[in-house]
Amino acid sequence: MGIPADVTLNTGATMPVLGFGTWQLRGDECRRAVAAALEAGYRMLDTAAIYGNEEQVGLGMRDAGLEREDVFVCTKLAGRDHGRTSDAARESMERLGVEYLDCYLIHWPAGQTADFEVWAEMERLHADGALRSIGVSNYSVALIEQLLDRGDVPPAVNQVEMNPFTHPRDIVKLCRDQAIAVQAYSPLGQASRLDDSRVARVADRVGRTPAQVMLRWGIQHGAVVIPKSANRERITANAQVFDFELAEADMAALDELG
Ligand SMILES: NC(=O)c1ccc[n+]([C@@H]2O[C@H](COP(=O)([O-])OP(=O)(O)OC[C@H]3O[C@@H](n4cnc5c(N)ncnc54)[C@H](OP(=O)(O)O)[C@@H]3O)[C@@H](O)[C@H]2O)c1
Repeated sequence: MGIPADVTLNTGATMPVLGFGTWQLRGDECRRAVAAALEAGYRMLDTAAIYGNEEQVGLGMRDAGLEREDVFVCTKLAGRDHGRTSDAARESMERLGVEYLDCYLIHWPAGQTADFEVWAEMERLHADGALRSIGVSNYSVALIEQLLDRGDVPPAVNQVEMNPFTHPRDIVKLCRDQAIAVQAYSPLGQASRLDDSRVARVADRVGRTPAQVMLRWGIQHGAVVIPKSANRERITANAQVFDFELAEADMAALDELG
């Protein structure tokens, strides 16, 4: 099953199916890891204002020497900034050293209702062209439905935790039905279950690592995966997920885990 390297968002923009996560990467380690990821072929970077590393992500991007339009840059609005969305987005762009963001997400919902005022401000920045695509993160089915009902622009992305052990089927289904791309965060389960014997069985069968199997599982479910690693070898290995396929039986075995 060939899987294209990009998905087309409901804004018409294309987003790579494989991105590089940067949570917990700081300082020079972050800068080096981002450059290594771009050298290994990743073309999407995921960061957030609260990660405190946007500047290093930007430096790593420049170290890799790619054209701006060849890297899909995604960052997120912090909860503390919900009352100052425009300023916060501009500050993120300044720290990253970019003139526009490919994707800007509301990092967490503030409560039980969708963040309508924040969303309206993001819609304005999207119309201006500063935010090419806008989306949400950690949004439940109910919150997405509220936003679809009341917003003018539908979210292009919902970034949620997704791996074989945490599989938010209801959210994935709604997003598929509404043409909202799912970005799977913690796609390796933060490495806590990589030694699970059932993942290992599938990995042995296909001759791949458990990490590659978990990432491929997410991709075959239609998600965009954004693994993080500080280690060059693991960064490179995690990108080798387009040259093998999980059979239906392997997908079913992994589906039983979560
Ligand atoms: N929207 C949100 O609320 C939210 C929440 C969490 C995460 N995220 C995003 O999603 C990204 C990924 O999630 P995550 O960082 O939580 O976890 P993850 O990518 O599932 O796992 C990262 C952990 O796995 C280890 N690792 C990576 N590749 C490995 C391999 N091949 N073999 C063994 N261990 C490996 C890493 O250690 P080393 O670094 O030592 O390799 C690190 O400890 C984040 O970086 C962030 O960008 C978003």
